[in-house]
Amino acid sequence: MGDLNRRHELLHGLTPGLIRQSLEAKEFAYCPYSRFRVGAALLAHDGKVFTGCNIENACYNLGICAERTAISKAVSEGYRDFKAIAISSDLCEQFISPCGGCRQFMREFGGSWVVYLSKPDGSYVEMTVEELLPESFGPEDLKMKRVHAIPNEF
Ligand code: THU
Repeated sequence: MGDLNRRHELLHGLTPGLIRQSLEAKEFAYCPYSRFRVGAALLAHDGKVFTGCNIENACYNLGICAERTAISKAVSEGYRDFKAIAISSDLCEQFISPCGGCRQFMREFGGSWVVYLSKPDGSYVEMTVEELLPESFGPEDLKMKRVHAIPNEF
């Protein structure tokens, strides 16, 4: 068995638990305006899980998504290497799909890790960050050759 298959098998063993944790995190959603609850559970390289929920605000545009809450918690504790994130909502006929902003936020930390789009019954669709956000812009692009070198005093 190849390394990639083995890695996927190990991950699949953890998937139902990760989805359950995202469903539990959804219970803490603070969403008095949309009444749309979202939960996330982020699996780091060493097995640690960071959960998150959406947190809305009376100043509507300041609300933060569940995925970004979880990633911010992880990064603020020194974690930048992620294996997977599970996302949950109350939608029963659709798999919850991350917003464009969250896709970009995930992509900052690589394109080949896994996103589980789930339903409340625990069923899920598995995609990679790269599949959700193809042809993306990321940290590497800032290091590429440019036509003009902008001086510091610009
Ligand atoms: N929301 C998330 O937390 N994650 C998503 O992937 C989609 C949308 C939140 C943002 C807002 O609080 C509510 O769901 C309705 O858009």
